[in-house]
Amino acid sequence: MKALVLSGGAGTRLRPITHTSAKQLVPVANKPVLFYGLEAIADAGITEVGIIVGETAEEIREAVGDGSRFGIDVTYIPQEQPLGLAHAVLIARDFLGDDDFVMYLGDNFIVGGITGLVDEFRRERPDAQILLTQVPNPTAFGVAELDADGLVVGLEEKPKEPKSDLALVGVYLFTPAVHEAVRSIEPSWRGELEITHALQWLIDQKRDVRSTTIRGYWKDTGNVTDMLEVNRTVLETVEPAQQGEVDEDSEIIGRVRIEPGAKVNGSRIVGPAIIGARSVISGAYVGPFTSVSDDVRIEDSEIEYSIVLRGASLAGVRRVEASLIGRDVEVTPAPRSPSAHRLVLGDHSKVQISS
Ligand code: G1P
Repeated sequence: MKALVLSGGAGTRLRPITHTSAKQLVPVANKPVLFYGLEAIADAGITEVGIIVGETAEEIREAVGDGSRFGIDVTYIPQEQPLGLAHAVLIARDFLGDDDFVMYLGDNFIVGGITGLVDEFRRERPDAQILLTQVPNPTAFGVAELDADGLVVGLEEKPKEPKSDLALVGVYLFTPAVHEAVRSIEPSWRGELEITHALQWLIDQKRDVRSTTIRGYWKDTGNVTDMLEVNRTVLETVEPAQQGEVDEDSEIIGRVRIEPGAKVNGSRIVGPAIIGARSVISGAYVGPFTSVSDDVRIEDSEIEYSIVLRGASLAGVRRVEASLIGRDVEVTPAPRSPSAHRLVLGDHSKVQISS
């Protein structure tokens, strides 16, 4: 069995972060989202992994390398344009050969991994197996319709009038039967070859398409709200550790990991939280569910329920909440007079100012 991991796409909902960085590499508890997926694949005993890459190919290659650190062997498969998930299967044909495979969307986060699912598929070998979960906003996803026996009878991509609240989760299991399906479908209104349509084609051909509804935790981390929520969940499981320096005037409460070379002076950190390597926290409050990356400076500021990326700095600001702060961003207070906000914001930035 092989794995096909999708790590292309433009990540429009995570702009401006994704102007300069791949959405799959935005860190959750200081580890890229994509790495959790690769670990889950390795845990399921799969070693041959194809990664579909797009515009951000170089960055993904640099982060993942040959995969040996995850115990997998990675083959990169370039996709010239984001032409859809079924298109990805089409161009991966040489890599996939006639093996069964799991397709895993690199920005999806599944708590508890995929081992149970992969084992079940290996035993039963239906033509395809999909994962479903109940969502409050089915119009944003692929949606499944099940009959009274729980069999999948129909699938629609981003339907305006969804027939259920069961969304397709970004993990799919296939036998080689899918190859004929992806060759047989036409692009959708958004110009993409949809995997949802390939699955519908299999259903129409009376092939065996099964579904498992998961109740565990799943997020498509394509937007900031979900990203912060996944960060919260993962931080709850972080092993507390103090590898940096914490002075006597500081107070560390709860589940907090302070990485090597980090310095905490005269500050209060309330976990769960992570302070990345070489970061300096001084005269500050870092509250629950905050991931501070490497080389960050937080001085005389308060922050909570946020993700701060590498090299960013906050000085003299209170108080920051529910925020995703990009790499090398500087947040500072304005002078008292004139009392005005001064902003240098990249394209597609979002700012909420309390004044
Ligand atoms: C894709 C699939 C959709 C699925 C979703 C899960 O959507 O097309 O069926 O529900 O992933 O993350 P997209 O990321 O292309 O909007």
